[in-house]
Amino acid sequence: MRPISHVPVLLNEALDLLRPRAGGRYVDGTVGGGGHAEAILERSSPDGRLLGLDLDPEALARAAERLKRFGDRVVLVHESFADLERVVRWYEFAPADGIILDLGVSSFQLAHPTRGFGFQTAAPLDMRFNPHQAGPTARELVNTLDAAALAEILRRYGEEPRAAAVARAIVQRRAKAPIETTTELAEIVTRVYGHRRGKIHPATRTFQALRIAVNRELEALERALPQAIEVLETGGRLVVIAFHSLEDRIVKHFFADQAATCVCPPGLPVCVCGRRPRVRILTRRPIRPSAEEIQANPRSRSAILRAVERLPEEG
Ligand SMILES: C[S@@+](CC[C@H](N)C(=O)[O-])C[C@H]1O[C@@H](n2cnc3c(N)ncnc32)[C@H](O)[C@@H]1O
Repeated sequence: MRPISHVPVLLNEALDLLRPRAGGRYVDGTVGGGGHAEAILERSSPDGRLLGLDLDPEALARAAERLKRFGDRVVLVHESFADLERVVRWYEFAPADGIILDLGVSSFQLAHPTRGFGFQTAAPLDMRFNPHQAGPTARELVNTLDAAALAEILRRYGEEPRAAAVARAIVQRRAKAPIETTTELAEIVTRVYGHRRGKIHPATRTFQALRIAVNRELEALERALPQAIEVLETGGRLVVIAFHSLEDRIVKHFFADQAATCVCPPGLPVCVCGRRPRVRILTRRPIRPSAEEIQANPRSRSAILRAVERLPEEG
């Protein structure tokens, strides 16, 4: 098997925005293999601290190994960023000087032989970030939902243009025998597309959609963003790296809303809402990886980074 390396995406750009410094308190809501976390800890030497969250116990074990030289400057916890505020307060990292969320799936997870995120090799259709989480796996979704519900997931979370056809093909195929593996599912989608293939594998969107549904990813992101602002120190920064337009739209609208100076209905002669912006947007245009980064790390291809800085409550 080809060795898997997880190269942190948009690392320098994220660090330039987070500006880690000695004595700072940082939160990595998606610690994964610990790539961003390691760089934050290096830059905040000798005594900056980092709280790392992940839903995947294997990711946490890997991060613990990579970060062990930082000793008690690191705290790693098996928690969801959907509960960010509770976790950050519990571990006394509030107010935090910087928070990073690098969303989605890691290269380790994609290449993992039994987690079912990728479709290069046959694996059980699981796709849960947290294998201890109760609730449906991808296998349960594809074998139990009716065609309309499946199509809705594929359309909404995968922006799959042939959602209805793929859903129908899944339902027809499972009438013979349950769909068990990633490669079986990829094969069903591939057949719907026949020879009309684009640049990306036709099953990519279906896998993305199921993964988002299984892990309720957009809901977790919507819950996390306001909590992140809540626990940031004045001048503290939040950096979010999204991997598809659905996530990025949520981040972009949330940041715009938090940065808004006035939310009065249009047409009023003077502002009556008295609203103060809670954040300053640091990325007027979202940051995307350079051609060199994409070449070196194809996973970075669709990354979109946005960042904000927490403003003081008063003045
Ligand atoms: C792209 S990877 C992060 C990689 C990391 N920045 C690095 O440099 O190694 C995303 C990670 O987020 C985790 N994750 C996804 N949803 C999560 C959630 N709601 N709470 C905590 N971790 C989550 C995944 O398990 C995965 O390990």
